Amino acid sequence: MIFEQIATGGCQSYLVGCADTNSAILIDPELSRVDRYLALAARDGLRIHYVIDTHTHADHFSASRTLADQLDVPVVMHRLSPAPYVDLRLEDGEMLVVGKLRIQVMHTPGHTRDSICLRVEDRVFTGDTLLIGGTGRTDLPSGNPDALYDSLFGNLLKLDPALLVYPAHDYKGASHSTLGAELAANPRLQKREREQFVSMMNNLNLTMPTHLTEALRTNMSGGKTVAQMLADAAAVVPFMALDELNARIAAGESDLLVLDVRERDAFDKGHIPGARLLPRGQLELRVNQDLPDPTRRIVSYCEFGRISTLATATLRELGFTRAVALDGGMRAWSDAGFPLTTQTD
Ligand SMILES: [Fe+2]
Repeated sequence: MIFEQIATGGCQSYLVGCADTNSAILIDPELSRVDRYLALAARDGLRIHYVIDTHTHADHFSASRTLADQLDVPVVMHRLSPAPYVDLRLEDGEMLVVGKLRIQVMHTPGHTRDSICLRVEDRVFTGDTLLIGGTGRTDLPSGNPDALYDSLFGNLLKLDPALLVYPAHDYKGASHSTLGAELAANPRLQKREREQFVSMMNNLNLTMPTHLTEALRTNMSGGKTVAQMLADAAAVVPFMALDELNARIAAGESDLLVLDVRERDAFDKGHIPGARLLPRGQLELRVNQDLPDPTRRIVSYCEFGRISTLATATLRELGFTRAVALDGGMRAWSDAGFPLTTQTD
């Protein structure tokens, strides 16, 4: 078995490959590490056949859909996953065959109703059902402490105690454990009566994960994160540096059109000399009357440089092929001491 464990903050992802056939699976990938997974697979000579999420993650952005699209392979989850982009839905007792590897699926609801554990040879990928020294929480959408009790004590913990445990999260830098070690020392597993266990889980009073809403929105729908929208826009947009724009304005470059895409009140408080106002929200509707010459070189800016990146991508899509975004926004421009005006021309 070829095995890579990739930690991203507290998230753990796994690339598991068959050494004989170079076929592999990728478990619980995280969106910011897409290039890392692909680079590792290439370095190890692996081709990924399935991208698997052990459950609907509420605490980080899954890369499953992005990777599955790039690699043209199925996204795999439990049948109960709410995500419409899941291509291959599995149930308890089923198995994926990847080269000579057999990936066995156990349905282990509790942390979420779509949680699965994956058994491969000497190890089990436990998702958030069982963590090292902990368990997944049961207070997020579709969590259920009774179901978690059954999944742990009635199912997972009945397996061979020597099985290695590789969880979806570890916040303390541990890489793995064994079922036996967890049974013996995991504090949550010492509550072996159902009532005790359930009441413990119901009284953890944990804080909500950051990005909960955005993570659920994107992981359940396949929609984009805000960071992804910005990155996608930035990838198709050229930028201009602050000092370059300043020099070109000073030189009176006739071809240049500086476009402020903020709202009117921000523009009135101070803008780049000669800039024209066209708020981002009105861009598509006013573009024909306000920007009649599509051959002009448009440099758009906003307060921080993010909305102007989106606006520039939209302009280029609309046919303004020379539209560029200012690298940095009004804030950086004024911090750098470049000229501002409240005059409009
Ligand atoms: Fe989770």
